[in-house]
Amino acid sequence: MNTLIVYSSKYDFTKERVLEIANSLKFDVKVVNINKEKPPGLEAFDTVILGGSVFMGQINKALKNYCQENETTLNSKKLALFLSCGLPDNVDTHLSNAYPKSLLDHASVKVNLGGELRLDKMSFGDKMITKMMIKATEKEGGQLPTANPSAIEELVRTLN
Ligand SMILES: Cc1cc2nc3c(=O)[nH]c(=O)nc-3n(C[C@H](O)[C@H](O)[C@H](O)COP(=O)(O)O)c2cc1C
Repeated sequence: MNTLIVYSSKYDFTKERVLEIANSLKFDVKVVNINKEKPPGLEAFDTVILGGSVFMGQINKALKNYCQENETTLNSKKLALFLSCGLPDNVDTHLSNAYPKSLLDHASVKVNLGGELRLDKMSFGDKMITKMMIKATEKEGGQLPTANPSAIEELVRTLN
């Protein structure tokens, strides 16, 4: 099976997880960062994996547009959807915001890869927001973002 992964990632957490997924799949996998490269035509692929990180409740606009523009064709493929949500409480809401309903209904698997707060890589603005987020989370005794390796296992198990 030919598999295409189209993803977006701002601070490389998702990029690294996508490479893990690609290495764990038994098929030929083409990986495309939608912010750097135009995805190839879908006709050559039978399986498509789509996902990206969530910032202020939203996935990357180019990824969101890609899903809307290719909705019909994507519904004819084996499909996996993921998000990288550092704050796992609202994953279902983020999934509904990110992807057209028909893709959510059609997907064989939908997972949250978790997230990491990489302060050293962040823009000034994101760093300020993140520092406030960390303070508030610590005050409430909440959990800071972490990776969710079991989500990768579930996704790979479903597709392999
Ligand atoms: C400014 C900012 C806003 C964020 N907003 C959200 C959010 O609304 N929901 C969420 O689950 N995670 C949020 N996160 C956490 C990111 O999703 C997490 O850091 C993720 O690992 C980023 O992945 P990337 O490095 O692939 O872009 C936010 C992070 C930053 C820095």
